Amino acid sequence: MSISRRSLIKNSAIAAVLLGIKNSAIAKAVERTGIKDFYKDDFRIGTALSTSTLMKNNEALLALVAREFNAITPENCMKWEALKPKDKEWDWTAADKFVEFGQKNNMYIVGHNLVWHSQVPEDVFKNEKGGAISKENLTLKMQNHITNLVSRYKGKIHAWDVVNEAVEDDGSWRKSPWHNIMGENFIAQAFHIANDVDSKAHLIYNDYNTESPAKRNFIVDMVKRFKKQGVPIHGVGMQEHLSIDGPGVAEIEATLIALAGAGVRAHITELDVDVLPSVWNLPTAEVSTRFEYTPERDPYIKGLPKNTEEKLAKRYEEIFKVYLKHHDKIERVTLWGTADSETWLNDFPIRGRTNYPLLFDRKLAPKPAYFRLLDLKK
Ligand code: XIL
Repeated sequence: MSISRRSLIKNSAIAAVLLGIKNSAIAKAVERTGIKDFYKDDFRIGTALSTSTLMKNNEALLALVAREFNAITPENCMKWEALKPKDKEWDWTAADKFVEFGQKNNMYIVGHNLVWHSQVPEDVFKNEKGGAISKENLTLKMQNHITNLVSRYKGKIHAWDVVNEAVEDDGSWRKSPWHNIMGENFIAQAFHIANDVDSKAHLIYNDYNTESPAKRNFIVDMVKRFKKQGVPIHGVGMQEHLSIDGPGVAEIEATLIALAGAGVRAHITELDVDVLPSVWNLPTAEVSTRFEYTPERDPYIKGLPKNTEEKLAKRYEEIFKVYLKHHDKIERVTLWGTADSETWLNDFPIRGRTNYPLLFDRKLAPKPAYFRLLDLKK
């Protein structure tokens, strides 16, 4: 049959509307079909849910997420500072809503994250008097945090980003407070603690720029060492905060192959494709990075030119071709958000720009890149 699934969906949706069969099986089937169904034999397709989507119960966006995706990650609401703000009790409101939504929709639920140097109150790294905390006491705090969080959602959260961003781009340990106080062993310890609490959860090390050779090699060596030492690590998250111009897909492919060789599953954890001019040398996702706003750095306020929209669609296509080629190594492909209106890249690393990195536009309509990804599965 030459008719594409895309036109079939479009046509049946139109037919259903014309015939007024709102509740018929066909209308329901059309409603339920999303990109996740096209890729169901390859890997899960996920998205990140923002705290505001959850707390304001953004019905339009949540309905879109339920139709299109079968995996979810909390964009912010499970981070340390959100769950356990300085001097306050644990606040589970948004995190509970997140897990409930995932369960209701039968989704693969990812916890993000347990141990990170960002979005963690500074006092975590201090003793009661505000001085330097001892290694033992920081270890206890870490143990307490992981235990509380993982046990609350035991059996509900399928995978945890256990440690986030512990490696520098040049292939060395990041000198974070965790590293400086506990030593490099903090990573293995975090994995052991998480595994002791929920031995069935899939445990991930997550980082950005995993395509760059120095960082890739360092992470792969760490994984191999962990495997030898019996550290319970099951996956590595490639964040994939990419730009429209790079890195080349050959580097992405090399990382997928190297991770499989080290015996872990690859997770694409935070995919987005920045279309705005880059004013710095290296792509980075280090969240503290800031640059000044100038109008030249924000050229698409009124909309994305057709040729850039096409370039973005092609970029998504080349990236997904590599994922498809290595689908056997990939557990899921998660985008860092659903619609361009909510992407963190409107504010990172320059506040207040208009970016277009995701698959749905500001009106929640699928973009050309989305259809290009469906076409790959025709
Ligand atoms: C980002 C969120 O999207 C923003 O809303 C927040 O202000 C900063 O963090 N790597 C990660 C994610 O692991 O948690 C970050 O998320 C993006 C970079």
